[in-house]
Amino acid sequence: MPAVPIAAPTIEPGLQPGPDSGLRSVEPSYGGPVRVAFVGKGGAGKSSIAGVFARLLARDGAQVLALDSDPMPGLAYSLGVPNRETGIPAEAVEEYEDDSGRRRHRLRAGLDAGAAIEQYSTVSPDGVRLLQLGKTRGVKGENSLSHQGYQAILDALQKQRSTEPDSTGSLADWAVVGDLPGGTRQPFFGWGRFARTILVVVEPTPASLLSGRRLARLAEKASAPHVVAIANKTREEADADLVQARTGLQVIGEVPFDPAQREADRRGVALLDLDSDSPMVAAVTALVSTLAAKEPVR
Ligand SMILES: Nc1ncnc2c1ncn2[C@@H]1O[C@H](COP(=O)(O)OP(=O)(O)OP(=O)(O)O)[C@@H](O)[C@H]1O
Ligand SMILES: [Mg+2]
Repeated sequence: MPAVPIAAPTIEPGLQPGPDSGLRSVEPSYGGPVRVAFVGKGGAGKSSIAGVFARLLARDGAQVLALDSDPMPGLAYSLGVPNRETGIPAEAVEEYEDDSGRRRHRLRAGLDAGAAIEQYSTVSPDGVRLLQLGKTRGVKGENSLSHQGYQAILDALQKQRSTEPDSTGSLADWAVVGDLPGGTRQPFFGWGRFARTILVVVEPTPASLLSGRRLARLAEKASAPHVVAIANKTREEADADLVQARTGLQVIGEVPFDPAQREADRRGVALLDLDSDSPMVAAVTALVSTLAAKEPVR
């Protein structure tokens, strides 16, 4: 497979974070497949961008796992997957006692995380594998085991995150694209723990900018990995600069407001299957190039 070049982010020199700005490094530090989590305020565009991103990454040759950590469906639509009910089934999970006698859960004996991904994910267009957290736990804890199984996969990906790119193991080759529920706390302490890069999706609106700023501050406290912003639904040239200035995060991608995305949403189809030449697809293509690994990723 051809290597995907890393394009230099298009940032105004004046807006580059300086040494004392308190911002995180702008350099991608990949040695392995891309591992990203999309976060941001509700409705910012996380699922829409993540779906296109995952499929384009797969078209570039990556073996892509798309993780939908939101109990409300979103990513399945933007990927164009007919099956919206995939998750880790209860029978894949077992309870055990740890050394201190606490009840814990893990994938059942003989089932490692890589095998669970293969077995329980849904194959989406372009070969992306979709794994969903599934429905909310319910008052009686109905889906609890299923959620524990999902967490076990996140744990395994997190452990593997820091290992060398050439490490063996069934997870090493997976690129991961996570779609996280809207909100602030979970991205850095919970659902986003597998990611090397957290992508904060921000609209150029006052509420979204404020959310982006809060997420950026939390990221500093949480010592999260590389955290950057994507300006979404931009309509004017100054919009991306506004996002960068207000959030304090480096904007590594700009996605214009695209009526084709709205139409795809209305029809319940993936944007890539409706109009693959649309401005949003072009913008996400550039984003994939920016983030993709230096080395071929299968
Ligand atoms: N670049 C864009 N141009 C036009 N419409 C867009 C764009 N990005 C997203 N949208 C639209 O914005 C709405 C919200 O998008 P999406 O569902 O992806 O947001 P989200 O961040 O995943 O929301 P939630 O937090 O509710 O899961 C949808 O109607 C979607 O079609
Ligand atoms: Mg969503």
